[in-house]
Amino acid sequence: MYKFSSKQKSFFRTQLLNWSEAFPRALPWVGEKDPYLIWLSEIILQQTRVQQGKPYFEKFKRKYPTVKDLANTPEDDLMKSWEGLGYYSRARNLHFSAKLIANERNGVFPTRYEDIRALKGVGDYTAAAIASFAFDLPYAVVDGNVYRVLSRFFGITDPIDVNEHKKQFASLAQDLLADAPPAKYNQAIMDFGAVQCTPKSPSCAACPLQKNCQALQKNMVQDLPIKSKKIVKKTRYFNYLVLNIGADVLISKREQRDIWRDLYEFTLLETDSMKTQGELISLASWKALFASTSPEINRVSKPFKQQLTHQTIIAQFWEISLDESSFSKIIGYIRINRENLSNFAFPKLFDWYLQDNSLYLDL
Ligand code: ADE
Repeated sequence: MYKFSSKQKSFFRTQLLNWSEAFPRALPWVGEKDPYLIWLSEIILQQTRVQQGKPYFEKFKRKYPTVKDLANTPEDDLMKSWEGLGYYSRARNLHFSAKLIANERNGVFPTRYEDIRALKGVGDYTAAAIASFAFDLPYAVVDGNVYRVLSRFFGITDPIDVNEHKKQFASLAQDLLADAPPAKYNQAIMDFGAVQCTPKSPSCAACPLQKNCQALQKNMVQDLPIKSKKIVKKTRYFNYLVLNIGADVLISKREQRDIWRDLYEFTLLETDSMKTQGELISLASWKALFASTSPEINRVSKPFKQQLTHQTIIAQFWEISLDESSFSKIIGYIRINRENLSNFAFPKLFDWYLQDNSLYLDL
Protein backbone atom coordinates (compact mmCIF):
# COMPACT_ATOMS: atom_id res chain seq x y z
CA MET A 1 0.00 0.00 0.00
CA TYR A 2 1.12 3.55 -0.64
CA LYS A 3 2.84 5.23 2.26
CA PHE A 4 2.65 8.99 2.56
CA SER A 5 3.28 11.08 5.64
CA SER A 6 0.28 12.07 7.69
CA LYS A 7 1.40 15.68 7.28
CA GLN A 8 1.12 15.41 3.51
CA LYS A 9 -2.24 13.67 3.74
CA SER A 10 -3.66 16.17 6.16
CA PHE A 11 -2.39 19.09 4.03
CA PHE A 12 -4.18 17.57 1.06
CA ARG A 13 -7.44 17.04 2.95
CA THR A 14 -7.50 20.47 4.55
CA GLN A 15 -6.59 22.40 1.41
CA LEU A 16 -9.15 20.51 -0.60
CA LEU A 17 -11.98 21.21 1.84
CA ASN A 18 -10.99 24.87 2.06
CA TRP A 19 -10.91 25.17 -1.69
CA SER A 20 -14.37 23.62 -1.93
CA GLU A 21 -15.79 26.05 0.65
CA ALA A 22 -14.28 28.95 -1.26
CA PHE A 23 -15.50 27.79 -4.69
CA PRO A 24 -18.80 25.97 -4.29
CA ARG A 25 -20.40 24.76 -7.51
CA ALA A 26 -24.07 25.43 -8.04
CA LEU A 27 -25.10 22.12 -9.54
CA PRO A 28 -28.64 20.78 -9.22
CA TRP A 29 -27.58 17.60 -7.38
CA VAL A 30 -25.10 19.20 -4.99
CA GLY A 31 -26.47 19.01 -1.45
CA GLU A 32 -29.21 16.63 -2.59
CA LYS A 33 -30.05 14.08 0.11
CA ASP A 34 -32.56 11.85 -1.69
CA PRO A 35 -30.57 8.68 -2.56
CA TYR A 36 -32.77 8.00 -5.58
CA LEU A 37 -32.05 11.42 -7.12
CA ILE A 38 -28.35 11.10 -6.32
CA TRP A 39 -28.31 7.70 -8.00
CA LEU A 40 -30.02 9.21 -11.07
CA SER A 41 -27.54 12.08 -11.26
CA GLU A 42 -24.54 9.79 -10.91
CA ILE A 43 -25.68 7.39 -13.62
CA ILE A 44 -26.38 10.31 -15.96
CA LEU A 45 -22.99 11.86 -15.15
CA GLN A 46 -21.21 8.65 -16.03
CA GLN A 47 -22.46 9.26 -19.52
CA THR A 48 -21.84 12.91 -20.12
CA ARG A 49 -20.21 16.09 -18.91
CA VAL A 50 -21.78 18.13 -16.16
CA GLN A 51 -23.13 20.85 -18.47
CA GLN A 52 -24.80 18.35 -20.82
CA GLY A 53 -25.94 16.22 -17.88
CA LYS A 54 -27.83 19.03 -16.15
CA PRO A 55 -30.85 19.18 -18.48
CA TYR A 56 -31.13 15.39 -18.46
CA PHE A 57 -31.11 15.35 -14.66
CA GLU A 58 -33.78 18.06 -14.53
CA LYS A 59 -35.90 16.17 -17.04
CA PHE A 60 -35.61 12.86 -15.21
CA LYS A 61 -36.39 14.52 -11.89
CA ARG A 62 -39.51 16.10 -13.39
CA LYS A 63 -40.73 13.01 -15.26
CA TYR A 64 -39.78 10.42 -12.65
CA PRO A 65 -39.73 12.19 -9.27
CA THR A 66 -39.64 8.95 -7.27
CA VAL A 67 -38.15 5.52 -7.78
CA LYS A 68 -41.67 4.13 -8.20
CA ASP A 69 -42.34 6.54 -11.07
CA LEU A 70 -39.20 5.34 -12.78
CA ALA A 71 -40.10 1.69 -12.14
CA ASN A 72 -43.56 2.17 -13.66
CA THR A 73 -42.27 3.77 -16.86
CA PRO A 74 -42.44 1.60 -19.99
CA GLU A 75 -38.94 0.69 -21.19
CA ASP A 76 -39.40 2.45 -24.54
CA ASP A 77 -40.32 5.73 -22.80
CA LEU A 78 -37.27 5.51 -20.63
CA MET A 79 -35.08 4.87 -23.66
CA LYS A 80 -36.63 7.92 -25.31
CA SER A 81 -35.78 10.06 -22.27
CA TRP A 82 -32.26 8.65 -22.28
CA GLU A 83 -31.83 9.43 -25.98
CA GLY A 84 -28.58 11.26 -26.65
CA LEU A 85 -26.80 9.96 -23.57
CA GLY A 86 -25.68 6.75 -25.23
CA TYR A 87 -24.66 3.43 -23.66
CA TYR A 88 -28.25 2.31 -23.13
CA SER A 89 -27.39 -0.63 -20.89
CA ARG A 90 -26.99 1.96 -18.12
CA ALA A 91 -30.61 3.00 -18.64
CA ARG A 92 -31.71 -0.63 -18.66
CA ASN A 93 -29.88 -1.32 -15.40
CA LEU A 94 -31.39 1.80 -13.88
CA HIS A 95 -34.83 0.54 -14.82
CA PHE A 96 -34.13 -2.97 -13.51
CA SER A 97 -32.94 -1.68 -10.15
CA ALA A 98 -35.81 0.83 -9.87
CA LYS A 99 -38.28 -2.03 -10.36
CA LEU A 100 -36.50 -4.08 -7.72
CA ILE A 101 -36.61 -1.22 -5.21
CA ALA A 102 -40.25 -0.48 -6.03
CA ASN A 103 -41.43 -4.09 -5.91
CA GLU A 104 -39.26 -5.76 -3.32
CA ARG A 105 -38.44 -2.86 -1.02
CA ASN A 106 -41.71 -0.98 -1.30
CA GLY A 107 -39.93 1.94 -2.95
CA VAL A 108 -37.49 2.45 -0.07
CA PHE A 109 -33.95 3.02 -1.28
CA PRO A 110 -31.34 0.89 0.55
CA THR A 111 -29.39 2.77 3.21
CA ARG A 112 -26.42 0.43 3.76
CA TYR A 113 -23.39 0.60 1.47
CA GLU A 114 -23.45 -3.16 0.78
CA ASP A 115 -27.12 -3.09 -0.25
CA ILE A 116 -26.59 -0.06 -2.47
CA ARG A 117 -23.55 -1.71 -4.06
CA ALA A 118 -25.61 -4.87 -4.72
CA LEU A 119 -27.97 -2.99 -7.09
CA LYS A 120 -27.51 -3.83 -10.75
CA GLY A 121 -25.51 -1.14 -12.51
CA VAL A 122 -24.08 0.26 -9.27
CA GLY A 123 -20.32 -0.17 -8.95
CA ASP A 124 -17.89 0.88 -6.23
CA TYR A 125 -17.87 4.49 -7.40
CA THR A 126 -21.65 4.97 -7.57
CA ALA A 127 -22.23 3.12 -4.29
CA ALA A 128 -19.70 5.37 -2.53
CA ALA A 129 -21.26 8.48 -4.08
CA ILE A 130 -24.80 7.54 -2.97
CA ALA A 131 -23.75 6.32 0.49
CA SER A 132 -21.72 9.45 1.19
CA PHE A 133 -23.95 12.11 -0.40
CA ALA A 134 -27.25 10.73 0.93
CA PHE A 135 -26.25 9.22 4.25
CA ASP A 136 -22.84 10.76 5.00
CA LEU A 137 -21.30 7.30 5.21
CA PRO A 138 -17.50 7.29 5.03
CA TYR A 139 -16.89 5.75 1.59
CA ALA A 140 -14.41 7.54 -0.65
CA VAL A 141 -15.30 7.91 -4.33
CA VAL A 142 -12.69 6.89 -6.89
CA ASP A 143 -13.40 8.06 -10.41
CA GLY A 144 -11.30 9.54 -13.20
CA ASN A 145 -11.07 12.86 -11.37
CA VAL A 146 -9.79 11.18 -8.23
CA TYR A 147 -7.14 9.13 -10.08
CA ARG A 148 -5.90 12.31 -11.71
CA VAL A 149 -5.81 14.44 -8.57
CA LEU A 150 -4.18 11.74 -6.41
CA SER A 151 -1.63 10.60 -8.98
CA ARG A 152 -0.53 14.20 -9.51
CA PHE A 153 -0.47 15.43 -5.95
CA PHE A 154 1.26 12.33 -4.59
CA GLY A 155 3.36 11.76 -7.75
CA ILE A 156 2.12 8.20 -8.29
CA THR A 157 3.39 6.76 -11.59
CA ASP A 158 1.73 3.33 -11.37
CA PRO A 159 -0.72 2.74 -14.21
CA ILE A 160 -4.29 3.26 -13.06
CA ASP A 161 -5.73 0.56 -15.32
CA VAL A 162 -3.99 -2.30 -13.47
CA ASN A 163 -6.08 -3.99 -10.80
CA GLU A 164 -3.38 -4.09 -8.16
CA HIS A 165 -2.84 -0.34 -8.47
CA LYS A 166 -6.55 0.41 -8.55
CA LYS A 167 -6.73 -1.19 -5.12
CA GLN A 168 -3.85 0.94 -3.89
CA PHE A 169 -5.50 4.11 -5.15
CA ALA A 170 -8.80 3.10 -3.52
CA SER A 171 -7.10 2.48 -0.23
CA LEU A 172 -5.25 5.82 -0.38
CA ALA A 173 -8.52 7.59 -1.23
CA GLN A 174 -10.20 5.93 1.75
CA ASP A 175 -7.30 6.84 4.01
CA LEU A 176 -7.52 10.50 2.93
CA LEU A 177 -11.20 10.70 3.73
CA ALA A 178 -10.34 9.79 7.33
CA ASP A 179 -12.47 11.90 9.64
CA ALA A 180 -13.46 14.49 7.05
CA PRO A 181 -17.21 14.92 6.42
CA PRO A 182 -17.81 12.29 3.69
CA ALA A 183 -20.33 14.12 1.49
CA LYS A 184 -18.35 17.36 1.55
CA TYR A 185 -15.01 15.65 1.00
CA ASN A 186 -16.20 13.52 -1.93
CA GLN A 187 -17.88 16.47 -3.59
CA ALA A 188 -14.73 18.53 -3.05
CA ILE A 189 -12.33 16.08 -4.69
CA MET A 190 -14.62 15.56 -7.68
CA ASP A 191 -15.10 19.29 -8.17
CA PHE A 192 -11.41 19.92 -7.74
CA GLY A 193 -10.65 17.44 -10.53
CA ALA A 194 -13.32 18.93 -12.76
CA VAL A 195 -12.50 22.61 -12.22
CA GLN A 196 -8.92 22.99 -11.06
CA CYS A 197 -6.84 19.87 -11.70
CA THR A 198 -8.24 19.32 -15.18
CA PRO A 199 -6.84 16.78 -17.68
CA LYS A 200 -5.43 19.16 -20.31
CA SER A 201 -4.68 22.56 -18.82
CA PRO A 202 -4.83 22.46 -15.03
CA SER A 203 -4.62 25.80 -13.22
CA CYS A 204 -1.41 25.00 -11.36
CA ALA A 205 -0.42 28.66 -10.94
CA ALA A 206 -3.52 29.32 -8.83
CA CYS A 207 -3.65 25.93 -7.09
CA PRO A 208 -3.88 25.75 -3.29
CA LEU A 209 -2.07 22.38 -3.38
CA GLN A 210 0.87 23.49 -5.52
CA LYS A 211 3.32 23.82 -2.63
CA ASN A 212 3.29 20.06 -2.07
CA CYS A 213 2.24 18.77 -5.47
CA GLN A 214 4.74 16.12 -6.57
CA ALA A 215 3.77 16.25 -10.23
CA LEU A 216 4.29 20.01 -10.36
CA GLN A 217 7.67 19.77 -8.67
CA LYS A 218 8.83 17.01 -11.01
CA ASN A 219 7.29 18.61 -14.09
CA MET A 220 5.05 15.61 -14.66
CA VAL A 221 1.60 17.19 -14.52
CA GLN A 222 0.87 16.43 -18.17
CA ASP A 223 2.09 12.83 -17.83
CA LEU A 224 -0.17 11.80 -14.96
CA PRO A 225 -2.17 9.70 -14.48
CA ILE A 226 -0.45 6.91 -16.40
CA LYS A 227 -2.37 4.25 -18.29
CA SER A 228 -0.67 1.08 -19.51
CA LYS A 229 -3.02 0.23 -22.34
CA LYS A 230 -4.03 2.28 -25.29
CA ILE A 231 -7.59 1.66 -26.37
CA VAL A 232 -7.74 0.40 -29.93
CA LYS A 233 -10.71 1.97 -31.64
CA LYS A 234 -12.32 0.24 -34.54
CA THR A 235 -14.17 2.00 -37.33
CA ARG A 236 -17.47 0.67 -38.64
CA TYR A 237 -19.34 1.78 -41.74
CA PHE A 238 -23.13 1.88 -41.60
CA ASN A 239 -25.15 2.33 -44.79
CA TYR A 240 -28.64 3.29 -43.70
CA LEU A 241 -31.32 2.74 -46.30
CA VAL A 242 -34.16 5.15 -45.65
CA LEU A 243 -36.91 3.13 -47.26
CA ASN A 244 -39.85 5.43 -47.98
CA ILE A 245 -43.28 4.31 -49.07
CA GLY A 246 -45.20 7.53 -49.63
CA ALA A 247 -45.23 9.31 -46.26
CA ASP A 248 -44.13 6.16 -44.44
CA VAL A 249 -40.69 4.86 -43.64
CA LEU A 250 -39.35 1.53 -42.39
CA ILE A 251 -37.55 1.25 -39.08
CA SER A 252 -36.51 -1.63 -36.86
CA LYS A 253 -35.33 -2.15 -33.31
CA ARG A 254 -31.73 -3.14 -32.63
CA GLU A 255 -31.95 -6.25 -30.53
CA GLN A 256 -28.57 -7.89 -31.01
CA ARG A 257 -25.74 -7.69 -28.47
CA ASP A 258 -24.07 -4.69 -29.98
CA ILE A 259 -23.97 -0.92 -29.63
CA TRP A 260 -27.30 0.93 -29.49
CA ARG A 261 -29.29 -2.06 -28.20
CA ASP A 262 -33.04 -1.33 -27.99
CA LEU A 263 -32.75 1.80 -30.09
CA TYR A 264 -34.44 2.12 -33.45
CA GLU A 265 -32.78 2.56 -36.81
CA PHE A 266 -33.44 2.53 -40.53
CA THR A 267 -32.57 -0.51 -42.63
CA LEU A 268 -28.89 -1.16 -42.07
CA LEU A 269 -26.28 -2.62 -44.36
CA GLU A 270 -22.95 -2.66 -42.55
CA THR A 271 -19.81 -2.77 -44.69
CA ASP A 272 -16.06 -2.80 -44.13
CA SER A 273 -15.50 0.55 -45.89
CA MET A 274 -17.44 3.50 -47.34
CA LYS A 275 -19.36 2.45 -50.41
CA THR A 276 -20.22 4.22 -53.62
CA GLN A 277 -23.69 3.77 -55.07
CA GLY A 278 -22.38 1.20 -57.56
CA GLU A 279 -20.70 -0.79 -54.81
CA LEU A 280 -23.76 -0.59 -52.58
CA ILE A 281 -26.13 -2.09 -55.11
CA SER A 282 -23.67 -4.88 -55.86
CA LEU A 283 -23.60 -6.05 -52.25
CA ALA A 284 -25.01 -9.47 -51.52
CA SER A 285 -26.93 -7.94 -48.60
CA TRP A 286 -28.54 -5.39 -50.95
CA LYS A 287 -29.57 -8.14 -53.34
CA ALA A 288 -30.91 -10.25 -50.51
CA LEU A 289 -33.06 -7.35 -49.35
CA PHE A 290 -34.54 -6.39 -52.67
CA ALA A 291 -34.35 -9.69 -54.57
CA SER A 292 -34.73 -8.95 -58.26
CA THR A 293 -36.39 -5.54 -57.90
CA SER A 294 -33.60 -3.05 -57.40
CA PRO A 295 -35.23 0.23 -56.34
CA GLU A 296 -34.03 3.66 -57.29
CA ILE A 297 -31.85 5.67 -54.92
CA ASN A 298 -33.09 9.27 -54.70
CA ARG A 299 -30.27 10.85 -52.75
CA VAL A 300 -27.47 10.17 -50.31
CA SER A 301 -26.40 12.16 -47.28
CA LYS A 302 -22.89 13.24 -46.46
CA PRO A 303 -21.16 10.81 -44.07
CA PHE A 304 -21.88 11.38 -40.36
CA LYS A 305 -19.34 10.38 -37.77
CA GLN A 306 -20.20 9.42 -34.20
CA GLN A 307 -17.39 8.70 -31.79
CA LEU A 308 -18.18 6.05 -29.16
CA THR A 309 -15.80 4.89 -26.45
CA HIS A 310 -14.33 2.00 -28.40
CA GLN A 311 -15.73 2.50 -31.87
CA THR A 312 -16.02 5.14 -34.54
CA ILE A 313 -19.23 4.92 -36.55
CA ILE A 314 -19.39 6.42 -40.03
CA ALA A 315 -22.91 6.45 -41.40
CA GLN A 316 -24.43 7.45 -44.70
CA PHE A 317 -28.14 7.68 -45.32
CA TRP A 318 -29.51 6.55 -48.67
CA GLU A 319 -33.02 7.79 -49.42
CA ILE A 320 -34.98 5.29 -51.46
CA SER A 321 -38.61 5.24 -52.62
CA LEU A 322 -40.44 1.96 -52.65
CA ASP A 323 -43.82 1.14 -54.04
CA GLU A 324 -46.31 -0.98 -52.13
CA SER A 325 -45.53 -4.14 -54.03
CA SER A 326 -41.78 -4.09 -53.48
CA PHE A 327 -42.35 -3.07 -49.87
CA SER A 328 -44.44 -6.15 -49.20
CA LYS A 329 -41.39 -8.31 -49.91
CA ILE A 330 -39.37 -6.67 -47.14
CA ILE A 331 -40.08 -8.32 -43.84
CA GLY A 332 -39.15 -7.74 -40.24
CA TYR A 333 -39.50 -3.94 -40.24
CA ILE A 334 -41.95 -1.53 -38.66
CA ARG A 335 -43.74 0.83 -41.01
CA ILE A 336 -44.43 4.25 -39.53
CA ASN A 337 -45.35 7.71 -40.77
CA ARG A 338 -42.24 9.92 -40.94
CA GLU A 339 -44.00 12.43 -38.71
CA ASN A 340 -43.90 9.88 -35.91
CA LEU A 341 -40.14 9.34 -36.02
CA SER A 342 -39.72 11.52 -32.94
CA ASN A 343 -41.69 9.01 -30.85
CA PHE A 344 -38.87 6.49 -31.14
CA ALA A 345 -35.42 6.57 -29.59
CA PHE A 346 -32.71 6.67 -32.24
CA PRO A 347 -28.91 6.90 -31.98
CA LYS A 348 -27.61 10.46 -31.79
CA LEU A 349 -26.31 10.39 -35.32
CA PHE A 350 -29.89 10.06 -36.58
CA ASP A 351 -30.83 13.40 -35.03
CA TRP A 352 -28.02 15.08 -36.89
CA TYR A 353 -29.24 13.56 -40.10
CA LEU A 354 -32.96 14.20 -39.52
CA GLN A 355 -32.44 17.75 -38.35
CA ASP A 356 -30.43 18.81 -41.34
CA ASN A 357 -31.97 18.21 -44.70
CA SER A 358 -29.37 20.24 -46.56
CA LEU A 359 -26.70 17.63 -46.24
CA TYR A 360 -27.21 15.67 -49.40
CA LEU A 361 -24.53 14.87 -51.90
CA ASP A 362 -25.05 14.74 -55.66
CA LEU A 363 -25.54 11.30 -57.03
N1 ADE B 1 -19.55 13.95 -11.62
C1 ADE B 1 -20.07 12.83 -11.11
N2 ADE B 1 -20.70 13.07 -9.95
C2 ADE B 1 -20.58 14.38 -9.72
C3 ADE B 1 -21.03 15.25 -8.71
N3 ADE B 1 -21.71 14.77 -7.68
N4 ADE B 1 -20.70 16.53 -8.82
C4 ADE B 1 -19.99 16.98 -9.85
N5 ADE B 1 -19.56 16.23 -10.84
C5 ADE B 1 -19.86 14.94 -10.79
